[in-house]
Amino acid sequence: MSMNVAQSLIVGKMIFLVLLASFLALPALALPSAAANQTNFAQTCRRAKLVDGYYLEAWCLDANGTHPFKNTLDLNFCVGIDYSTSVLQWMVYGKLANYCSHCSLEHDNPNHPVLDCACQTSGQKSGIFSTLKLDEGIYNNNGTLTCDGGIATIG
Ligand SMILES: *[C@@H]1O[C@H](CO)[C@@H](O)[C@H](O)[C@H]1NC(C)=O
Ligand SMILES: *[C@@H]1O[C@H](CO)[C@@H](O)[C@H](O)[C@H]1NC(C)=O
Ligand SMILES: *[C@@H]1O[C@H](CO)[C@@H](O)[C@H](O)[C@H]1NC(C)=O
Repeated sequence: MSMNVAQSLIVGKMIFLVLLASFLALPALALPSAAANQTNFAQTCRRAKLVDGYYLEAWCLDANGTHPFKNTLDLNFCVGIDYSTSVLQWMVYGKLANYCSHCSLEHDNPNHPVLDCACQTSGQKSGIFSTLKLDEGIYNNNGTLTCDGGIATIG
């Protein structure tokens, strides 16, 4: 089958439009899921507090922004320390309870809650206080708090 110039121009135009459309559609498709679970959890969760030293408790809204769910996230699943400096860091199954004590939640900026703990490795005499910005590693995924390594229990 052969095409004349007008036909091939139309086909070329269609291919261009399809490419353009898929290019334009990409950001639109990517945004909703990113918005649903990459939000700063503090902006969509309320009454964040630390319980039993290592559990983050908060009431988080679903993607609709209507229903609040009570979340309890065990930070041992995603927070640990740098073993050479004893500084808090994000780590899958970091088990911070093995190294840290005196943990508290700073609320100086309510939209950016900060974890504050004294941590030490077995070789060190005393703990070193350091902080971790929780909104940089914890997400509200449609009402459920998640972090790399952990997911909250609801209720
Ligand atoms: C965000 O949601 C998508 C789709 O539901 C999922 O594949 C992805 O793992 C989630 N990311 C995080 C950080 O929860
Ligand atoms: C969220 O809104 C959608 C559409 O309005 C509805 O079908 C769904 O049940 C809502 N989910 C919750 C958890 O309220
Ligand atoms: C959020 O969860 C509800 C059930 O609690 C579900 O009906 C809805 O589809 C979910 N929304 C998204 C964006 O995942």
